[in-house]
Amino acid sequence: MKRDKVKKGEEHLKEVKEKSGEAGKKAMIAVYPGTFDPITSGHMDIIERASGLFDELIVAVSTHPEKNAWFTLQERVEMVRQSCQHLKNVSVQSFQGLLVQFVREKGARVIIKGLRAVSDFDYEFQMAAMNRKLAPEIETIFLMTSLPYAYLSSSIVKEVASLRGCLRGLVPDLVAQRLIEKVNEGRR
Ligand code: COA
Repeated sequence: MKRDKVKKGEEHLKEVKEKSGEAGKKAMIAVYPGTFDPITSGHMDIIERASGLFDELIVAVSTHPEKNAWFTLQERVEMVRQSCQHLKNVSVQSFQGLLVQFVREKGARVIIKGLRAVSDFDYEFQMAAMNRKLAPEIETIFLMTSLPYAYLSSSIVKEVASLRGCLRGLVPDLVAQRLIEKVNEGRR
């Protein structure tokens, strides 16, 4: 079953290569994973920059957020999808289980992660090391978050929303709208 999925990933990689008209060249597919509860301008910064570096970027939304999520999986996927509409080589999918298994199934070789501050380093180092142990052929590549977003996180954005602060620039406009709706529904 898992082998079938990996084979499917390899076929997908071949398809992307052919589409890019560079069948002789190795097409590079990268996966950018996260919880995205919700997607922020910091995530968008990483997505836009990574989409310029790879033939295809798959934004992978985790089905199992460890934290108490504001948004359902479907809502999180939909917000990411709408926010990335302008990026033609970006697709959005949900995943469960091991990240490296999903990456293999997609025929990808790279995991993209954003690094905001030194405080991210220990955790990211541990995850990258474990992913490398599980799948040595997959590389984790870190992009430094652009400075204006270095202080952003999904939790801090939700806190601003629940205290009815201004969300401009912190999240895509459509996400700001959804956050305000959640707060107005009194569910948060
Ligand atoms: N801009 C703004 N915020 C950012 C950001 C950026 N560039 N990059 C990360 N963040 C924030 C997120 O908003 C989130 O904030 P929050 O804690 O306030 O919600 C926080 O950083 C953590 O991001 P998250 O999306 O939860 O990612 P993660 O680093 O915790 O990893 C998975 C989540 C899904 C990638 C990880 O749990 C995973 O790989 N799961 C699969 C299971 C697996 O394979 N486990 C073995 C791996 S070792």
